[in-house]
Amino acid sequence: MKHLFTALLLPVFSILFSAAVQAEGHAPAPPAGDPAKGQAIVSTVCVACHNADGNSTIPTNPKLAGQHAEYLLKQMKNFKGQNGNPPERSNPIMNGMIAAYSEDQMRDLAAFLSVQKYRPDVAKNPDTINLGQKIYRGGNAAKGLPACAGCHGPAGAGVPAQFPRIAGQFSEYVETQLKSFRAGERANDPNKMMRMVADKMSDNDIKAVADYIAGLR
Ligand code: HEC
Ligand code: HEC
Repeated sequence: MKHLFTALLLPVFSILFSAAVQAEGHAPAPPAGDPAKGQAIVSTVCVACHNADGNSTIPTNPKLAGQHAEYLLKQMKNFKGQNGNPPERSNPIMNGMIAAYSEDQMRDLAAFLSVQKYRPDVAKNPDTINLGQKIYRGGNAAKGLPACAGCHGPAGAGVPAQFPRIAGQFSEYVETQLKSFRAGERANDPNKMMRMVADKMSDNDIKAVADYIAGLR
């Protein structure tokens, strides 16, 4: 049995492994930053809403701990607005919070937050778990809704640098973002990827998938 396993499956693992190594070889270098400098800012400023380690406990404030550094950096730059242009992602609180920081400081912040241990939330609504899981894993062909797993991964861990981790995020925050993408108010998603997804979802779909995501690991 062991030999059969080795003979049949080892080549498959080797191929998968070398594909993973190749993909990694082509990935852009993660943004360098100084986590100690980032921590100094988090512990004096961001702490008020996202906690000292980025594990916010207030459902309207997203958890940032363990999020991909590239995604964090992109969001901070989007909140600030570049080259005199208005911010690409508009939120009265965050637009103000991030305005004072340089790109180097944002890299420091991303470097610190991305390596903090993540404390995920939990799902709360047993009645909608099935619908949420169905949408997450398979989308809805009749509505032209793609599976979330296709981009965010089967366990919601995301794929650096493009796709954020969403597993364990507060359902309240996820719901707000999906509605905001759907309304076109959040429009910083490359190639309208999330706007096209959210556009195909009812309020009910959004609530169900947001709660499922909170419990996803
Ligand atoms: C007064 C509360 C408050 C403070 C202080 C604050 N934030 Fe936020 N932050 C928020 C809220 C609310 C959001 C969600 C905005 C939205 O809904 O679009 C957010 C969103 C974010 C996001 C986007 C996360 C994602 O998943 O897309 C990042 C990154 C972020 N904050 C970083 C920071 C950093 C770094 C600091 C400190 C310099 C900070 N925040 C300080 C309230 C705050
Ligand atoms: C085609 C790829 C793709 C699919 C399919 C997709 N997403 Fe996304 N999603 C993205 C990208 C890219 C972003 C980051 C946008 C940005 O850079 O601001 C994102 C961001 C998000 C965010 C915001 C995260 C945050 O921290 O603010 C949420 C929530 C989200 N997606 C939920 C979903 C759900 C739920 C589904 C399935 C119904 C889904 N996504 C399907 C590509 C995708």
